[in-house]
Amino acid sequence: MNGSERLHVALGERSYDIVVGAALLEGAGALLRGVLRQARVVVVTDETVAALHLPRLIAGLDEAGIAHEAIVLPPGEGTKDFAHFHQLVEGVLARGIERRTALVALGGGVVGDLTGFAAATLLRGLDYVQIPTTLMAQVDSSVGGKTAIDTRYGKNLLGAFHQPVLVLADIDALATLPRRELLAGYAEIVKYGLIGDRDFFAWLEANGAALVEGDAALRRAAVLKSCAAKAAIVARDEREEGERQLLNFGHTFGHALEVETGFGDALLHGEAVALGMRLALDLSVRLGLCPAGAAARVRRHYHAVGLPLELAGIANGREFAADALIAHMGRDKKVRDGQITLILARDIGDAFISREVPAGKLRDFLVSETANSLVRPAGAV
Ligand SMILES: NC(=O)c1ccc[n+]([C@@H]2O[C@H](COP(=O)([O-])OP(=O)(O)OC[C@H]3O[C@@H](n4cnc5c(N)ncnc54)[C@H](O)[C@@H]3O)[C@@H](O)[C@H]2O)c1
Repeated sequence: MNGSERLHVALGERSYDIVVGAALLEGAGALLRGVLRQARVVVVTDETVAALHLPRLIAGLDEAGIAHEAIVLPPGEGTKDFAHFHQLVEGVLARGIERRTALVALGGGVVGDLTGFAAATLLRGLDYVQIPTTLMAQVDSSVGGKTAIDTRYGKNLLGAFHQPVLVLADIDALATLPRRELLAGYAEIVKYGLIGDRDFFAWLEANGAALVEGDAALRRAAVLKSCAAKAAIVARDEREEGERQLLNFGHTFGHALEVETGFGDALLHGEAVALGMRLALDLSVRLGLCPAGAAARVRRHYHAVGLPLELAGIANGREFAADALIAHMGRDKKVRDGQITLILARDIGDAFISREVPAGKLRDFLVSETANSLVRPAGAV
């Protein structure tokens, strides 16, 4: 499959394009030439991605006469910390960069968030290009300009809004992604259907399983659709004062599960989001806001593609306590005047922001979910 398609994120002087297609790493030099202010970049990546994909990018940069150096960090969420941020910014400064030198983030959301934050702060702001290599990063984290690192008080607590100057989503890069990581990214694709596009959800019901199995044309179509949805929302609400909060569908529940499981391999971010969206839908049903049939339909789709449905059976079979989850939800960045913000749904494709869920109802719901998780067999639908 050749060729590529371009989307535009309309943000005035901070506008940029997202290019989605095949063989974009090899062609990156020519694409970057159009946006770089200097024919020089510092590429930031992780060891896994460097071994698999850095040579193709380097060949592309060489072909276009763009000078490059690479900083290679360890893979994993642990790299989004102060120590690696320090190592990265000192590494970039040691290379004698100028204000017009750009950074290039080649990797998943970890590399993208960390590099974006370094770009936001180095010399009071460098340009950077996102070249996402996970499905999660292609459909979500590389678009929208949220950059951050984690602190011991929580995830993504130190960061900045800093938009990239270009995003290149090379579908070929997904061929080397482990299935579990791919499914985690797929959860964010499902999110776009659930929050605002009923037809897209129906398309995923028809095509999701083949997409997960490896069909590149379907992957490309889903990445394009997801990026277009995110670009439109970000263009209308860059700073998440309103509509952009819908993109947090499933994230308040998911984040609480991630805090409990330690933000590591036990439960991937996308897996936590998948569970969180399922919980948000079932809570919406419980509150009488959403028809039970909608939640059942989503359960069937999760089952068909292999997304986790129950708290039982995840994270090596650990048990969750409702009050611990609620305590974490109460410390979420999205809490306003002490009230937990939840994204709920009236139906598939119709999500809304709610700060009105009574604490008792939320607790009753989570008690039943965590009690379920103690008695239901793993993987039960
Ligand atoms: N900024 C945002 O808007 C935003 C949105 C969603 C998530 N995030 C952040 O993104 C991070 C998660 O991103 P992620 O899921 O991409 O995780 P990740 O960056 O840790 O990548 C997952 C794993 O896949 C490996 N990998 C990457 N590309 C590969 C490829 N093509 N082939 C084989 N292996 C590959 C990585 O080395 C890593 O081990 C979290 O820190 C989350 O907070 C940010």
